[in-house]
Amino acid sequence: MQDLALAKVLDIQYPIIVAPMFLVSNEAMLIAACEFGATAAVPSLNYRTPEELRKALRRVRSATNKAFGVNLIVNKSNIHMQEHLKICLEEGVDYFITSLGNPKQVIEESHKQGVKVFCDVVDEKYAKKVVDLGCDGLVAVNSGAGGHAGSIPVTVLVPMLKEKFPGVPVISAGGIANGKALLAVEVLGADGFQIGTPFIATKEAPVSEEYKKAIIDYHAEDVVMTSKLSGTPCTVIATDYVKKIGTEQNPIEKFLNENRQLKKYAKMLTHYKGMKLLENAAFQASYKSVWCAGPSLEFSKEISSVKDILQSLVHSYEEEKNSRFSRPAKL
Ligand SMILES: Cc1cc2nc3c(=O)[nH]c(=O)nc-3n(C[C@H](O)[C@H](O)[C@H](O)COP(=O)(O)O)c2cc1C
Repeated sequence: MQDLALAKVLDIQYPIIVAPMFLVSNEAMLIAACEFGATAAVPSLNYRTPEELRKALRRVRSATNKAFGVNLIVNKSNIHMQEHLKICLEEGVDYFITSLGNPKQVIEESHKQGVKVFCDVVDEKYAKKVVDLGCDGLVAVNSGAGGHAGSIPVTVLVPMLKEKFPGVPVISAGGIANGKALLAVEVLGADGFQIGTPFIATKEAPVSEEYKKAIIDYHAEDVVMTSKLSGTPCTVIATDYVKKIGTEQNPIEKFLNENRQLKKYAKMLTHYKGMKLLENAAFQASYKSVWCAGPSLEFSKEISSVKDILQSLVHSYEEEKNSRFSRPAKL
């Protein structure tokens, strides 16, 4: 995998991004991934104030000269976007991962400083938009991803984007938790990998032990989509609390979210309440357990470290590759 495009573009050994995860990613995860020879990105919104973001980026930059990134939400809901972009560029971030909205400004300003921009995409239409804007790669978020998953399976999404946009690196995001998956996605044509869920159950992650334990105890079939947290459906573990509140907006919420005059405020309220729920559940024991994760939690067996997970991914990938592709050809 070391010769895949992402490794070359970022000058790293392994083309693996430890994914940006709201409330979960932190400086320790970034530094551990970089030290291993991979990379990681943190959502700028994980920091409450611009000063906290700046300090965190300085800590990472002083600990490593390897490439690390920041995830910027580029739609109107992120009122801090301009300031965060400026801080990241001043503090020497190597790349951005943009999600939602229009990344035009991020691409233009980053390229002036040689900073790369990868854009989250879930379909061809949006991919075309960001390729036309000049992005440096597509993060292809498939239907098996944790968070705001796409609707297209990896077996279709990656080959489709490679075919439609030749020469544009495609980083596959969703459902990767072992060497078999890495190899399979490489065979599909991916130029790099973005992996989130397995890194929630790590000693570096700042979230509660209950959340980490849930990643280990629950199974793939326990992961469901909810539209209760924001306008965009998101994957969560079906805890008793999630089952109790349901995963669909109730008729009043639906009415308000569709009403022409009120929908702007209703969406803001849903988003605010959803983020508060996630935040409270992420950091403390609470019966209101709303934990975001993807179905690849199936393969998490213990609380580990970022380095150990990366090591095991690379090791199992190499074993798999050797056992499958170095057999003598049958006549
Ligand atoms: C807990 C959690 C939080 C996430 N938060 C964000 C986020 O803030 N921004 C973003 O672009 N993607 C976010 N994602 C998506 C990841 O960046 C990544 O694409 C996804 O985790 C890949 O799928 P996997 O979890 O199956 O590895 C999140 C995913 C999870 C599991």
